[in-house]
Amino acid sequence: MSNTKLPILETERLILRAVSVGDVDDMFEYASTEEVTQYTTFKRHITKEDTSLAIQEVFLKRPVKGWPEAFAIVLKETNKMIGTCDFWPIAKNDVFEMGYALSPKYWNQGIVTEAGECVLKYAFEEYGVRRMELRHIDQNIGSKKVGQKLGFIHEGTKRKFIKVKSEYRDLEYYGMLKEEYNERTR
Ligand SMILES: CC(C)(COP(=O)(O)OP(=O)(O)OC[C@H]1O[C@@H](n2cnc3c(N)ncnc32)[C@H](O)[C@@H]1OP(=O)(O)O)[C@@H](O)C(=O)NCCC(=O)NCCS
Repeated sequence: MSNTKLPILETERLILRAVSVGDVDDMFEYASTEEVTQYTTFKRHITKEDTSLAIQEVFLKRPVKGWPEAFAIVLKETNKMIGTCDFWPIAKNDVFEMGYALSPKYWNQGIVTEAGECVLKYAFEEYGVRRMELRHIDQNIGSKKVGQKLGFIHEGTKRKFIKVKSEYRDLEYYGMLKEEYNERTR
């Protein structure tokens, strides 16, 4: 398996580098919002201690488990950390899942698509991912659009799989194979 340490990557508007302890304030700013957490598996952060704990326990523990670090999305213009874009192993034989979250102030400007393209390039070309998966609840149109723009293929629906605010929702599953990535970026 590849190194768990991530390089620093750069796109037109963004720097992608590993999440660090210094990201508490910026991460709290969006992880404490209902807009972001209504669609994520993590609970809304109420205090900065929640964010600090998440950074320590969720993000910084990844290399200990042999997982790649998580990329923080940093806006070049302001050097502000505004979200994350990460991937982690979910099955044997180089199968990974990708996830992302962005501060609502920056939604619908193509930022996660820009970050996602860069992370997919790194994951497939450098890290050794063979198959990347993506999933979202049916209402999460933004995530669905990002997946489509990145070239993921819809592979199925787990109907009424997840309970969100006391209602069971469908979970949509997507996948991208290394050869599909190669074909797309040729
Ligand atoms: C999903 C999320 C990461 C998207 O980030 P983003 O940087 O705004 O995404 P992009 O701007 O690259 O693309 C979003 C697309 O969805 C579209 N979109 C967003 N909300 C929409 C809605 N309610 N209805 C229709 N289209 C919508 C945007 O118009 C855009 O499409 P376009 O480029 O064709 O105009 C961001 O909304 C987020 O952090 N959401 C909360 C956390 C989350 O859901 N994470 C994923 C869990 S699976």
